[in-house]
Amino acid sequence: MNDTILEKLRWRYATKQFDPTRKISDADWSTLEEALILTPSSYGLQPWKFLVIKNQELKESLVPASYKQQQVADCSHLLVFAVNKNMTEAEIDKLIHTTSAIRGQDPSSMDYFRSLMIGDIVTGSRGEDSVGWAKLQSYIALGNFMTCAAMMDIDCCPMEGFVPKMYDESLNLAEKGLTTAVVCPAGYRIADDKYADLPKVRYSREDLIETIE
Ligand SMILES: Cc1cc2nc3c(=O)[nH]c(=O)nc-3n(C[C@H](O)[C@H](O)[C@H](O)COP(=O)(O)O)c2cc1C
Repeated sequence: MNDTILEKLRWRYATKQFDPTRKISDADWSTLEEALILTPSSYGLQPWKFLVIKNQELKESLVPASYKQQQVADCSHLLVFAVNKNMTEAEIDKLIHTTSAIRGQDPSSMDYFRSLMIGDIVTGSRGEDSVGWAKLQSYIALGNFMTCAAMMDIDCCPMEGFVPKMYDESLNLAEKGLTTAVVCPAGYRIADDKYADLPKVRYSREDLIETIE
Protein backbone atom coordinates (compact mmCIF):
# COMPACT_ATOMS: atom_id res chain seq x y z
CA MET A 1 0.00 0.00 0.00
CA ASN A 2 2.65 2.55 1.06
CA ASP A 3 4.80 1.72 -1.95
CA THR A 4 1.81 1.94 -4.27
CA ILE A 5 0.89 5.40 -2.98
CA LEU A 6 4.41 6.69 -3.55
CA GLU A 7 4.65 5.01 -6.93
CA LYS A 8 1.46 6.72 -8.10
CA LEU A 9 2.49 10.09 -6.68
CA ARG A 10 5.82 9.83 -8.51
CA TRP A 11 4.00 8.81 -11.68
CA ARG A 12 1.76 11.89 -11.64
CA TYR A 13 3.07 15.10 -13.11
CA ALA A 14 1.58 18.34 -14.38
CA THR A 15 0.62 16.99 -17.79
CA LYS A 16 1.58 19.29 -20.62
CA GLN A 17 0.18 17.28 -23.50
CA PHE A 18 -3.03 15.29 -23.32
CA ASP A 19 -4.03 12.69 -25.87
CA PRO A 20 -7.17 14.30 -27.33
CA THR A 21 -8.47 10.92 -28.49
CA ARG A 22 -8.62 9.35 -25.02
CA LYS A 23 -11.60 10.00 -22.78
CA ILE A 24 -12.10 9.23 -19.11
CA SER A 25 -14.87 6.64 -18.70
CA ASP A 26 -18.14 7.67 -17.08
CA ALA A 27 -17.52 5.21 -14.23
CA ASP A 28 -14.07 6.64 -13.46
CA TRP A 29 -15.31 10.20 -13.73
CA SER A 30 -18.18 9.44 -11.41
CA THR A 31 -15.67 8.22 -8.79
CA LEU A 32 -13.68 11.42 -9.18
CA GLU A 33 -16.83 13.51 -8.79
CA GLU A 34 -17.62 11.63 -5.60
CA ALA A 35 -14.08 12.34 -4.38
CA LEU A 36 -14.68 16.04 -5.04
CA ILE A 37 -17.94 15.93 -3.12
CA LEU A 38 -16.21 14.18 -0.20
CA THR A 39 -13.60 16.93 0.09
CA PRO A 40 -13.59 18.45 3.58
CA SER A 41 -13.88 22.21 4.06
CA SER A 42 -13.74 24.66 6.97
CA TYR A 43 -16.92 24.21 9.07
CA GLY A 44 -18.07 21.92 6.23
CA LEU A 45 -19.32 24.98 4.34
CA GLN A 46 -18.38 23.73 0.84
CA PRO A 47 -18.21 27.22 -0.69
CA TRP A 48 -17.73 25.84 -4.20
CA LYS A 49 -19.18 24.55 -7.40
CA PHE A 50 -17.24 22.16 -9.62
CA LEU A 51 -17.86 22.79 -13.30
CA VAL A 52 -17.13 19.85 -15.54
CA ILE A 53 -16.62 20.87 -19.14
CA LYS A 54 -16.74 18.10 -21.72
CA ASN A 55 -17.98 20.22 -24.62
CA GLN A 56 -15.13 20.42 -27.15
CA GLU A 57 -16.12 23.82 -28.55
CA LEU A 58 -16.26 25.36 -25.10
CA LYS A 59 -12.93 23.80 -24.08
CA GLU A 60 -11.29 25.21 -27.22
CA SER A 61 -12.79 28.64 -26.64
CA LEU A 62 -11.06 28.72 -23.23
CA VAL A 63 -7.54 28.29 -24.67
CA PRO A 64 -7.04 32.09 -25.14
CA ALA A 65 -8.28 32.60 -21.57
CA SER A 66 -5.61 30.11 -20.45
CA TYR A 67 -2.58 31.86 -21.90
CA LYS A 68 -2.83 29.54 -24.90
CA GLN A 69 -2.27 26.44 -22.81
CA GLN A 70 -3.54 23.70 -25.07
CA GLN A 71 -4.26 21.29 -22.21
CA VAL A 72 -7.69 22.84 -21.67
CA ALA A 73 -8.71 21.82 -25.20
CA ASP A 74 -6.98 18.45 -25.45
CA CYS A 75 -8.03 17.07 -22.08
CA SER A 76 -10.97 14.73 -21.67
CA HIS A 77 -12.69 16.72 -18.90
CA LEU A 78 -11.88 20.31 -17.96
CA LEU A 79 -12.58 20.84 -14.29
CA VAL A 80 -13.17 24.40 -13.13
CA PHE A 81 -13.14 25.08 -9.41
CA ALA A 82 -15.52 27.99 -8.88
CA VAL A 83 -16.16 29.54 -5.47
CA ASN A 84 -18.75 31.81 -3.88
CA LYS A 85 -17.93 35.47 -4.39
CA ASN A 86 -19.66 36.30 -1.13
CA MET A 87 -20.48 34.38 2.00
CA THR A 88 -23.83 35.45 3.42
CA GLU A 89 -26.17 34.14 6.10
CA ALA A 90 -27.93 32.22 3.32
CA GLU A 91 -24.85 29.99 2.83
CA ILE A 92 -24.65 29.37 6.56
CA ASP A 93 -28.34 28.47 6.71
CA LYS A 94 -27.95 26.10 3.77
CA LEU A 95 -25.44 24.11 5.82
CA ILE A 96 -27.62 24.20 8.94
CA HIS A 97 -30.65 22.95 7.02
CA THR A 98 -28.70 20.28 5.14
CA THR A 99 -27.20 19.04 8.41
CA SER A 100 -30.64 19.01 9.96
CA ALA A 101 -32.07 17.00 7.04
CA ILE A 102 -29.24 14.46 6.97
CA ARG A 103 -28.65 14.00 10.69
CA GLY A 104 -32.15 14.68 11.94
CA GLN A 105 -30.93 17.46 14.22
CA ASP A 106 -33.21 20.34 15.16
CA PRO A 107 -31.84 23.47 13.43
CA SER A 108 -32.19 25.41 16.70
CA SER A 109 -29.72 23.01 18.33
CA MET A 110 -27.14 24.47 15.97
CA ASP A 111 -27.77 28.14 16.89
CA TYR A 112 -24.41 28.50 18.58
CA PHE A 113 -22.60 26.90 15.63
CA ARG A 114 -24.56 29.16 13.26
CA SER A 115 -23.59 32.38 15.05
CA LEU A 116 -20.00 31.18 15.31
CA MET A 117 -19.82 30.73 11.54
CA ILE A 118 -21.55 34.04 10.81
CA GLY A 119 -19.26 35.88 13.22
CA ASP A 120 -16.26 34.43 11.44
CA ILE A 121 -16.94 33.93 7.73
CA VAL A 122 -19.75 36.47 7.13
CA THR A 123 -19.30 39.44 9.46
CA GLY A 124 -15.95 38.62 11.08
CA SER A 125 -12.38 39.17 9.98
CA ARG A 126 -12.42 36.30 7.51
CA GLY A 127 -15.65 37.68 6.08
CA GLU A 128 -13.67 40.71 4.88
CA ASP A 129 -12.09 38.44 2.29
CA SER A 130 -14.50 35.54 2.11
CA VAL A 131 -13.65 34.93 -1.54
CA GLY A 132 -10.00 34.53 -0.55
CA TRP A 133 -11.08 32.13 2.18
CA ALA A 134 -13.24 30.21 -0.31
CA LYS A 135 -10.34 29.94 -2.76
CA LEU A 136 -8.17 28.42 -0.04
CA GLN A 137 -10.90 25.84 0.51
CA SER A 138 -11.04 25.03 -3.21
CA TYR A 139 -7.36 24.10 -3.21
CA ILE A 140 -8.17 21.31 -0.76
CA ALA A 141 -10.54 19.95 -3.40
CA LEU A 142 -7.87 20.41 -6.06
CA GLY A 143 -5.32 18.42 -4.03
CA ASN A 144 -7.85 15.73 -3.28
CA PHE A 145 -8.78 15.50 -6.95
CA MET A 146 -5.18 15.29 -8.16
CA THR A 147 -4.26 12.57 -5.69
CA CYS A 148 -7.36 10.49 -6.42
CA ALA A 149 -6.80 10.88 -10.18
CA ALA A 150 -3.21 9.67 -9.79
CA MET A 151 -4.38 6.62 -7.84
CA MET A 152 -6.62 5.82 -10.82
CA ASP A 153 -3.85 6.36 -13.43
CA ILE A 154 -5.62 9.46 -14.68
CA ASP A 155 -3.55 12.49 -15.62
CA CYS A 156 -4.25 16.11 -14.86
CA CYS A 157 -2.63 19.51 -14.81
CA PRO A 158 -3.42 21.98 -12.03
CA MET A 159 -3.54 25.43 -13.60
CA GLU A 160 -3.41 28.96 -12.29
CA GLY A 161 -2.29 30.18 -15.68
CA PHE A 162 -5.60 31.60 -16.83
CA VAL A 163 -7.56 34.85 -16.69
CA PRO A 164 -10.33 34.42 -14.09
CA LYS A 165 -12.40 37.27 -15.54
CA MET A 166 -12.48 35.58 -18.95
CA TYR A 167 -13.47 32.23 -17.44
CA ASP A 168 -16.15 33.90 -15.34
CA GLU A 169 -17.59 35.57 -18.43
CA SER A 170 -17.48 32.46 -20.62
CA LEU A 171 -19.15 30.35 -17.95
CA ASN A 172 -21.64 33.01 -16.80
CA LEU A 173 -20.38 32.67 -13.27
CA ALA A 174 -21.12 36.20 -12.02
CA GLU A 175 -24.86 35.69 -12.31
CA LYS A 176 -24.51 32.57 -10.15
CA GLY A 177 -22.50 34.49 -7.53
CA LEU A 178 -19.37 32.51 -8.40
CA THR A 179 -15.85 33.18 -9.57
CA THR A 180 -13.11 30.90 -10.90
CA ALA A 181 -10.44 29.91 -8.37
CA VAL A 182 -8.33 27.33 -10.19
CA VAL A 183 -8.73 24.89 -13.06
CA CYS A 184 -7.58 21.36 -13.74
CA PRO A 185 -7.75 19.63 -17.12
CA ALA A 186 -7.86 15.85 -16.75
CA GLY A 187 -7.39 12.98 -19.17
CA TYR A 188 -4.48 10.89 -20.42
CA ARG A 189 -0.96 11.99 -21.34
CA ILE A 190 0.32 11.48 -24.88
CA ALA A 191 2.90 8.69 -25.10
CA ASP A 192 5.84 11.02 -25.67
CA ASP A 193 5.17 14.05 -23.47
CA LYS A 194 8.78 14.87 -22.63
CA TYR A 195 7.80 16.28 -19.24
CA ALA A 196 6.54 12.92 -18.03
CA ASP A 197 9.97 11.45 -17.37
CA LEU A 198 11.72 14.51 -16.00
CA PRO A 199 13.06 13.90 -12.50
CA LYS A 200 10.94 15.59 -9.84
CA VAL A 201 12.36 18.80 -8.45
CA ARG A 202 11.64 18.75 -4.73
CA TYR A 203 13.57 20.10 -1.78
CA SER A 204 15.13 17.61 0.58
CA ARG A 205 13.33 15.99 3.47
CA GLU A 206 15.62 17.92 5.86
CA ASP A 207 14.63 21.15 4.17
CA LEU A 208 10.90 20.56 4.21
CA ILE A 209 10.15 18.50 7.27
CA GLU A 210 10.95 19.35 10.84
CA THR A 211 9.93 16.87 13.48
CA ILE A 212 9.44 18.05 17.01
CA GLU A 213 9.56 15.11 19.44
C1 LIG B 1 -1.91 25.64 -8.15
C2 LIG B 1 -1.02 25.24 -9.30
C3 LIG B 1 -1.04 25.98 -10.46
C4 LIG B 1 -0.29 25.58 -11.57
N1 LIG B 1 -0.42 26.24 -12.77
C5 LIG B 1 0.13 25.68 -13.88
C6 LIG B 1 -0.18 26.17 -15.17
O1 LIG B 1 -0.93 27.13 -15.36
N2 LIG B 1 0.36 25.53 -16.24
C7 LIG B 1 1.18 24.44 -16.12
O2 LIG B 1 1.62 23.89 -17.13
N3 LIG B 1 1.49 23.97 -14.90
C8 LIG B 1 0.98 24.54 -13.79
N4 LIG B 1 1.25 24.01 -12.55
C9 LIG B 1 2.13 22.84 -12.45
C10 LIG B 1 3.39 23.08 -11.61
O3 LIG B 1 4.32 23.83 -12.33
C11 LIG B 1 3.91 21.71 -11.22
O4 LIG B 1 2.93 21.04 -10.47
C12 LIG B 1 5.19 21.79 -10.40
O5 LIG B 1 6.24 22.33 -11.16
C13 LIG B 1 5.62 20.41 -9.89
O6 LIG B 1 5.76 19.50 -10.96
P1 LIG B 1 4.90 18.17 -11.08
O7 LIG B 1 3.49 18.52 -10.78
O8 LIG B 1 5.07 17.77 -12.53
O9 LIG B 1 5.46 17.17 -10.13
C14 LIG B 1 0.56 24.45 -11.45
C15 LIG B 1 0.58 23.73 -10.24
C16 LIG B 1 -0.21 24.11 -9.19
C17 LIG B 1 -0.21 23.25 -7.96
